[in-house]
Amino acid sequence: MKKIAILTSGGDAPGMNAAVRAATRTALSYGLEVYGIERGWDGLIKGQLNKLETRSVSDMIQRGGTFLKTARCPEFVTLEGQRKAFETLEAYGIEGVIIVGGDGSFRGAKDLSDNFGVKCMGIPGTIDNDLAYTDYTLGFDTAVNTVLSAISNLRDTMQSHERVSLVEVMGRHCGDIALYAGIAGGAEYILIPEKPFDLNQISKSLIKSKLRGKTSNLIVLAEGAGNRDEIVKFINEMAGVNIKITHLGHVQRGGSPTMADRILATRFGVKAVEEIIKDDSVSSAIGIRGNKVIAIPLDEALSYPKSFNEDLYGISQILSK
Ligand code: ADP
Ligand code: F6P
Repeated sequence: MKKIAILTSGGDAPGMNAAVRAATRTALSYGLEVYGIERGWDGLIKGQLNKLETRSVSDMIQRGGTFLKTARCPEFVTLEGQRKAFETLEAYGIEGVIIVGGDGSFRGAKDLSDNFGVKCMGIPGTIDNDLAYTDYTLGFDTAVNTVLSAISNLRDTMQSHERVSLVEVMGRHCGDIALYAGIAGGAEYILIPEKPFDLNQISKSLIKSKLRGKTSNLIVLAEGAGNRDEIVKFINEMAGVNIKITHLGHVQRGGSPTMADRILATRFGVKAVEEIIKDDSVSSAIGIRGNKVIAIPLDEALSYPKSFNEDLYGISQILSK
């Protein structure tokens, strides 16, 4: 393998730049030529790529977002789109591609690998932490810390005004951001898509806690767990409270990566290159399990059943009582 390319795809995540930096510098140290593809699969189809040198990734480790840009690309889901992407790679003599993205991007990588024989390495980059084969995805730690910082501010004003607050965080199918930020932020109620919840019970519990003299309460809601306005309307009416809503939205996706994400990104970037240059390696997903960086075949990684941290959820239930 003499030439590789790197792209970022799907939703951006803090740490993507640090991963591209690590992969670029590792590849250069092995004597490879490295290309950065702009705007994910779309850029590959359109031939938007530039050579990366050591200096191209200077001053990148601390930056959120992705300097390569990212995009969603419906055309790449088709065989015709994948063929165009492959033709770009052929024209440049590029034999391997490193993809930093979520499960959709990984599915694209698997197609490119299965249909055109391109060796692909997937680095899990998404704030959602929704790839079951790896303990953590890039950007998750930073996003949770961003939510935590917002919760800390909220707690100050909740205490002063003796209020109930609801914070809505990202996570359509995966409640990890809500679960981790909820526990670390001392939330009384954590509402996530993986677990059913009873608004009647929550309302009763709020009434009881008021009777006990508790003056403020925090609810953390994952966006995929329910409609925030309907939930708040129901509880307000049932419990006679006036919940203040904070919708954090895309602030969770930006920001300088934490130390944990920078180190993870760096380890992932190095491993992706070490795997891609092996003669006998197959297209794989890079991940971390028990603090060990792993590479497993892409199809195996994508077939992992969705997992959920029941232990942590159990802890949240104990502590919120
Ligand atoms: P993420 O990678 O964060 O999960 P998406 O699900 O939006 O984000 O996927 C990013 C891109 O990956 C899509 O715009 C599309 O180009 C490609 N992709 C997604 N799913 C598939 C699929 N099943 N087959 C081929 N390509 C896919
Ligand atoms: O997958 C990352 C994520 O931030 C999800 O948590 C969120 O539901 C979604 O992307 C938002 O996507 P968009 O930026 O396209 O609105």
